[in-house]
Amino acid sequence: MTVFSGAGISAESGVPTFRDVETGLWAKVDPYEISSADGWRAHPDRVWAWYLWRHHMMSAVGPNNAHRAVAAWEDYADVHVVTQNVDNLHERAGSRRVYHVHGSLFDFHCDTCRSAYRGPVPDMPEPVESVDPPVCEACGGLIRPDVVWFGEALPDDAWERSVEAVAGADLVVVVGTSSVVYPAAGLPEMALANGTPVIEVNPEPTPLSSSATVTLREKASTALPGLLQRLPALLT
Ligand code: OAD
Repeated sequence: MTVFSGAGISAESGVPTFRDVETGLWAKVDPYEISSADGWRAHPDRVWAWYLWRHHMMSAVGPNNAHRAVAAWEDYADVHVVTQNVDNLHERAGSRRVYHVHGSLFDFHCDTCRSAYRGPVPDMPEPVESVDPPVCEACGGLIRPDVVWFGEALPDDAWERSVEAVAGADLVVVVGTSSVVYPAAGLPEMALANGTPVIEVNPEPTPLSSSATVTLREKASTALPGLLQRLPALLT
C-alpha cells in the first residue's frame, strides 16, 4: 500500500492546512513572499520567522488517529508513506518508510554550502515579523529549513522513492490533499494510469475526485482507522 498524504491528515492534530479559506496558511500570508526561493532571497528574516513559528506549532502537537492508523497498517501490508507535509507526525505515529516530497521542517542546512545545521533553533510560540537566521559556521551562509519552496526542485531521493512506491503499489490511499500542487499531485494519476486502485479520503471535492476509484467524503481520523476492514466492500 502507498499512502499519499497532505495537510488535511494533520489538520485534526491542530496544524492548519494551506488552502482553507478561513484558517488556511495561504489565507493569511502571501505564499510567494513567505515560501519561495525569491522571497527568501529578498527577506530571509521574515521567511525564517514564519518557519520558526510553524516549527514550534508542529513540535507542540501530536499524531492523530489517522497517522496512527497508517502506522498500524504495517502489521498487515508493506506500507510506504509519501507525504507533502513538512511535519514529522507520520514518523512519530510509528510509520517506518516516509518520503517527504516537500522536505522537512525538522532539518536545516546552509543555503550556500548546503552543510547540515545541528545548532539550536529558537522556540517561537507566537508569530513574529522578523528573526535573523543563524549563520553557517563553515562558510557564513544563512541557515534555512530543509523545505521545498516555490521555484525549487523536489528532493531527488524522496521523489524517486515515491515514484517507486506508487509504481509498486497494489493500492494507493490519497488523504487530505487538495491535489493541485504538481508534480506531487501527479502521483495518484500515475497509479490510475497503471490500473492501480486509488481511494481518496477528503471531506471536500478535489480535482482527483472524479477519477479516483473510490472517494470517501470523510475526515481522515474517521475514515482511516476502519479502512482495511472496508476494503472488500469498497473495491468490489
Ligand atoms: P491544502 O491546504 O491545499 O489541502 C488540504 C486538503 O485537506 C483540502 O482538500 C481539505 O479539504 C482537506 N482536509 C481538511 N481537513 C481534513 C481532514 N480532517 N481529513 C481529511 N482531509 C482534510 O494542502 P496540501 O494539499 O497538502 O507545498 O497542499 C499541497 C502543498 O501546497 C503543500 O505541501 C505546500 C503547499 O504549497 C509546499 O510548501 C511546497
